[in-house]
Amino acid sequence: MTAAVSFTNSPARPGRPRFGEGAVIACDNLVRIYKIADLEVVALQGLDLLVDPGEIVAIVGASGSGKSTLLNILGGLDQPSAGRAIVAGHDLGQMGRHERTLYRRRIAGVIWQQTARNLLPYLSARENIELPMILDGARDRRRRALDLLERVGLRDRAGHRPDRLSGGEQQRIAVAVALANGPAVLLADEPTGELDSVTSAEIFALLRQVNSDLGTTIVVVTHDAFVSEQVRRTVSIRDGRTATETVRRTEQTAEGEHRIISEEFAVLDRAGRLQLPKAHVDALSLRDRVRLRLEPDHVGVWPDRTSRHVAGGDPGPSSSAGAVPPPDPAEVIDAREEDER
Ligand SMILES: Nc1ncnc2c1ncn2[C@@H]1O[C@H](COP(=O)(O)OP(=O)(O)OP(=O)(O)O)[C@@H](O)[C@H]1O
Ligand SMILES: [Mg+2]
Repeated sequence: MTAAVSFTNSPARPGRPRFGEGAVIACDNLVRIYKIADLEVVALQGLDLLVDPGEIVAIVGASGSGKSTLLNILGGLDQPSAGRAIVAGHDLGQMGRHERTLYRRRIAGVIWQQTARNLLPYLSARENIELPMILDGARDRRRRALDLLERVGLRDRAGHRPDRLSGGEQQRIAVAVALANGPAVLLADEPTGELDSVTSAEIFALLRQVNSDLGTTIVVVTHDAFVSEQVRRTVSIRDGRTATETVRRTEQTAEGEHRIISEEFAVLDRAGRLQLPKAHVDALSLRDRVRLRLEPDHVGVWPDRTSRHVAGGDPGPSSSAGAVPPPDPAEVIDAREEDER
């Protein structure tokens, strides 16, 4: 079940698609502020994200960057403070209680890192898988639960309770539970965080299998470099915003061999904002403000050497090289052409 997203209050300009059109997940300027007493933590600060139906996307980012906050909102467990998140046609900030309950039951299947959070300890594997179907009043539950056990390779563990299953087996069952009501999206928050690398690879292979067999859209948060290398698109979050995207594609060489090309892009939001990678900022000691120049096919970014705010304080008009404004590259080119004439 996959419905496309549309932002009804943002009419498309003629000839231009609406933001989020055709996407199954569309986050538009998403903000989440946690308030504890007088303290405010801005966990998401204007995050934009589009995910197409049938995609599998990895989300990476430092601890505290907002990954779980995003997944909690997409899973219908938490609400944005501002901005919008639409999943399969459901506006997550506008849902009433009843719609939210149905959304969590039918639209978003969630898998958590903590194996214990995914399964009820006193139910068998099969009963755990049947539970969401019972809550949804689905029929033919036994057969579907056994099919799902087959899919995750644990048909012979149907009667085992979670404490009789390994960590990897518990996560497989968690995948089956999340799939029980045929969700449009599967959200996994570090599903392999408690597993060894071999078992992690197996769980991830299962997620990819589910994605290709059932066409379920999957968003998986991970610290595991192996996992993020296995998907076509990895989105990195920094300080509550999408910072970069790495896109992988396979290319055939002249010798007929396949090689993987991996390219990193900065994400430009709808207001034209982008985050420069920290390494770039550090390498040129960029701060406060930068000079931008539009070139025929790119935009250049230069440190502002005239700024009073450059490291070391006010350099004065002639005190250092840092006080000299960078030459306008266009002027440099003009001067060179002058010399050549
Ligand atoms: N319930 C909450 N109340 C207050 N602050 C919170 C709450 N949940 C998260 N935060 C804060 O929001 C920020 C983002 O947290 P989040 O859990 O989304 O990070 P994360 O990227 O998932 O990190 P990790 O990789 O460690 O799981 C952090 O600064 C965190 O302390
Ligand atoms: Mg987290």
